[in-house]
Amino acid sequence: MKSSPSRDTQLPHIPVMVNEVLQYLNINPNGIYVDGTVGAGGHSKHILNQLSPTGTLVGFDRDNEALDLAKNTLSASPSRINLACASYHTFPSFLHSKGMSSVNGFLLDLGLSSMQLDDASRGFAFSKSGPLDMRFDQQSDLDATSLINHSSEEEIANIIYEYGEERLSRRIAKSITNKRPISTVDELYEAIRTATPPQHRNKTLARVFQAFRIAVNQELEKLDSFLSSFMDSLLIGGRIVIMSYHSLEDRMVKHAFKSLKQAGELKVLTKKPVMASDEEIQINPRSRSAKLRAAERII
Ligand SMILES: C[S@@+](CC[C@H](N)C(=O)[O-])C[C@H]1O[C@@H](n2cnc3c(N)ncnc32)[C@H](O)[C@@H]1O
Repeated sequence: MKSSPSRDTQLPHIPVMVNEVLQYLNINPNGIYVDGTVGAGGHSKHILNQLSPTGTLVGFDRDNEALDLAKNTLSASPSRINLACASYHTFPSFLHSKGMSSVNGFLLDLGLSSMQLDDASRGFAFSKSGPLDMRFDQQSDLDATSLINHSSEEEIANIIYEYGEERLSRRIAKSITNKRPISTVDELYEAIRTATPPQHRNKTLARVFQAFRIAVNQELEKLDSFLSSFMDSLLIGGRIVIMSYHSLEDRMVKHAFKSLKQAGELKVLTKKPVMASDEEIQINPRSRSAKLRAAERII
């Protein structure tokens, strides 16, 4: 059974691997730190706790509702705070506009927050009836409804295969195009359900919903752009910490760090991705899929 289409009571987002994030950021109290995915401000709050009044936090999120929450969470801090409703990959121009050029650390906690997932009106979860939206940035022109109704069957199959790593992509794409127009979570759910066997169906549903979310928000393009530019603004000795929640993103981070290591510019601090402890997973099941990678600029 799905929940009603009204806005659900949203559980607060619990920040993942806070101790590990702080350990790898190795915060300089007077430094400048960029939280590229500030969300409800969970990690930012902990970063601010370690900054002095001359330290600075710069926070980005594409979602205005998340930024409003972050403003509330962070406003009591005596440190300097600059929040921007923008994608993290645009950080160089934002830093420039604020008179900053180099930073001591970057944090990316990728994906979506519990608030976004739990809000039926956002259309991120296959278990919640609502409009098929899936945009992080609600001002953006492309939502999941227009993507699904205006793409060819082949384009839909490619999205599901590439961003969902789902092997039944062609069959699902055919079912989706046969059932168009589709504008609700329930309609997309039904198109996937009728094209797939019952075993592991929830995993298939999760993969297809993830695929459309990634495509709607152009998540991999933004990560790619960030990974090719962050070094220009990271001070020597500065740290970068990235948490990903699916293998596509984790692979991109791993390869970017590896090639910067081979170029002699970066020291990778995590040989293997760091995972949440069993204890944390029990308290916060969402942390189960998190993979943390960290590195330090050395020249
Ligand atoms: C996992 S949540 C971050 C939670 C946060 N660390 C906390 O503890 O509250 C990910 C956030 O990243 C945001 N986001 C996704 N893609 C983004 C992008 N390209 N630029 C900025 N924010 C983005 C989402 O809107 C969401 O609020």
